[in-house]
Amino acid sequence: MKVTQAEFTISAAGPKQYPEDALPEIALAGRSNVGKSSLINKMLQRKNLARTSSQPGKTQLLNYYRINEALYFVDFPGYGFAKVSKSLREQWGKMIEEYLKHREPLKLILHVIDLRHPPSKDDQAMYSWLKHYNLPVCIVTTKADKIPKTKWQKHLKIVKETLEVDPRDPIIMFSSETGLGKDELWLHIAKAASL
Ligand code: GTP
Ligand code: MG
Repeated sequence: MKVTQAEFTISAAGPKQYPEDALPEIALAGRSNVGKSSLINKMLQRKNLARTSSQPGKTQLLNYYRINEALYFVDFPGYGFAKVSKSLREQWGKMIEEYLKHREPLKLILHVIDLRHPPSKDDQAMYSWLKHYNLPVCIVTTKADKIPKTKWQKHLKIVKETLEVDPRDPIIMFSSETGLGKDELWLHIAKAASL
């Protein structure tokens, strides 16, 4: 998809602040620091529209980005970040759970996984939760540029086995550095959002 317009819309703390124009929403879930915001920037070809950081836990609200007046990316706070207080963590969890279960315009969840390491317990819990609620998921294994190409398939297999990936769910190899997987991911997003 050709991105002609991309803008930050709102950092939403809850349903009252979610947009009301009913455009399809594509959400990004993944642990802190996995590369969710970088993925958004790469997909939109904007250097710093979505805030990225080497410090985990930066994204704390649901950050909405409107693209081409046609859809939204919704950047989630990362899970599995120990440094925030437990109550804050629970609050985030509730907001996300609420959103995922009841948000009508939600069309696809990009579950972002670090290709370099076996998925964590949090990754496993997140994926099985998404499957339990029958939500539409596309797995994106990112930071592929950090491991040699010859090892991609081996790492992909570990991701599939550890998460017990549903064979119907697409898995896309991605890199926010090189742009690997960008076109393929746009195809899945366009299809899910009926663009
Ligand atoms: P939170 O907002 O804290 O949940 O993190 P996030 O998932 O949004 O991660 P973010 O995009 O901020 O990226 C974290 C770090 O990983 C940054 O230093 C990025 O530059 C780096 N990074 C993200 N994606 C890639 C990638 O595909 N390849 C490489 N080499 N580095 C990446
Ligand atoms: Mg982020």
